[in-house]
Amino acid sequence: MYGMVNKAMEEMVIKTHGEGTWEKIKAKAGVDIEVFMSNEGYSDDITYNLVAAASELLQTPPGKILHGFGEHWILYTAQEGYGSLMEANGRTLPEFLSKLPDFHSRVAMIFPQLQPPRFECSEITEHSLNLHYFSHRQGLAEFLVGLMHGLGKMFKTPVTVRQTAAKAQGADHDVFEVTW
Ligand code: HEM
Repeated sequence: MYGMVNKAMEEMVIKTHGEGTWEKIKAKAGVDIEVFMSNEGYSDDITYNLVAAASELLQTPPGKILHGFGEHWILYTAQEGYGSLMEANGRTLPEFLSKLPDFHSRVAMIFPQLQPPRFECSEITEHSLNLHYFSHRQGLAEFLVGLMHGLGKMFKTPVTVRQTAAKAQGADHDVFEVTW
């Protein structure tokens, strides 16, 4: 993944637990990279190892770390660093979600080697939809739930998210029912 992902994780940990904890997490994860470059590619293993090390050191389940990271990604990384991209994708939560399928193609203009997830929306009603999440990566469902809650906070529209199909349990892909 692009370095901006690891960098965002670093920012989140430093903000909540300080520099010392981040250095310990990096050491435990076996990562000896001093500075992550936002627009350089890094092995996905680095990101997964950082999550696992954070989980151990902070005595927090990995899913909870990923959930928090999803919220942080929306509220800080995306809004502060890519505000205009976010604004262009919709002025309300339902509008933003309905345009999610095209979102990363615009991100790919900045990051050409991006290997983004793919999204589809179905069963769209006035207060809910089903979000289909396709990825070649594993284990990121809780990140997705955190992203949805981050969007809910960003649009000041409380959301509930319920996973109705899980790739980890043999489904073709993950499905989330998002209600607002
Ligand atoms: C301007 C805002 C955003 C930027 C710059 C961005 C960029 C990225 C980058 C760099 C990755 C790592 C993939 C790679 O490096 O190959 C990624 C992954 C991902 N993004 Fe975004 N993204 C943004 C907003 C969003 C939003 C709004 C959502 C959904 C609500 C989202 C969902 C995801 C997910 C689920 C992944 C995990 C990768 C996977 O499942 O394979 N992103 N994004």
